[in-house]
Amino acid sequence: MNDLLTLIKKRHSSRVFFDQKRLIAKDDLHKILEAGSWAPTAHNMQNYEVVIADDKKLIEAIAAIKGTISLTFVKENYKQLSFSEEELRKKKTGVPGTMFPLAWRNPNVKKADLTADDRDSFMQEELNSTPVLGIVLYDPTRRAPASKGDFLGIISLGCVMENMWLMANSLGIDFHIVSSLSNGPMEKGIRKLLGIPENLMIAYSFRLGYAVYPHKYLRVRRDVEDFTHHNKYGEKGI
Ligand SMILES: Cc1cc2nc3c(=O)[nH]c(=O)nc-3n(C[C@H](O)[C@H](O)[C@H](O)COP(=O)(O)O)c2cc1C
Repeated sequence: MNDLLTLIKKRHSSRVFFDQKRLIAKDDLHKILEAGSWAPTAHNMQNYEVVIADDKKLIEAIAAIKGTISLTFVKENYKQLSFSEEELRKKKTGVPGTMFPLAWRNPNVKKADLTADDRDSFMQEELNSTPVLGIVLYDPTRRAPASKGDFLGIISLGCVMENMWLMANSLGIDFHIVSSLSNGPMEKGIRKLLGIPENLMIAYSFRLGYAVYPHKYLRVRRDVEDFTHHNKYGEKGI
């Protein structure tokens, strides 16, 4: 059990270049997807499909799609950034500011300051270094009964993500979730390149590979006593 908690705590985001010479063994890829398939899903609806892209030219074509960057994202993102380890340790939520291009680290940013170039150069090289890109599709027709807005179905996709992530990391394979392929021109372009039917939504994508160098950054969490309430909301702790 302690091993499981250790694995859970060691699971991490690998926002790094992957070694293009180290491919993912088919057997390992199968294990990662199999782990995903054993995730709990509401009413066991297994409401997903996964497209695996490992063709270099195809991944390059995906990386070459020009994206957009939304002012809303940058403004809301700013509030979640920390600019020192001390700040992040204190906040216990959010991510280090250094993860984002300089122009995005400005609370007074204007639309005109945001160029797609920042975003694209930020992502393009990472994508190009990716041996395997997985695209998880949400199938709204496999909806759990009486799930308003299919809230339960969306939660289910998160369970699939976590299982795949833990399996990958347990095999020593780096895993990086990329949400920005699910909207705007990236979503449209990928849909076309991969022949994704209109009725399926791109929920999230993940990069699999072996990091050229490990992504070392401070990872923080809220304390258990901070988010648990004993018998009554507001009575903190267990
Ligand atoms: C639904 C979801 C979407 C995410 N989208 C992204 C993303 O687009 N890019 C990224 O680098 N990380 C993304 N992440 C990873 C989180 O930022 C990361 O899990 C969090 O900062 C904690 O860091 P850790 O994974 O290293 O523990 C996403 C995670 C989840 C669960």
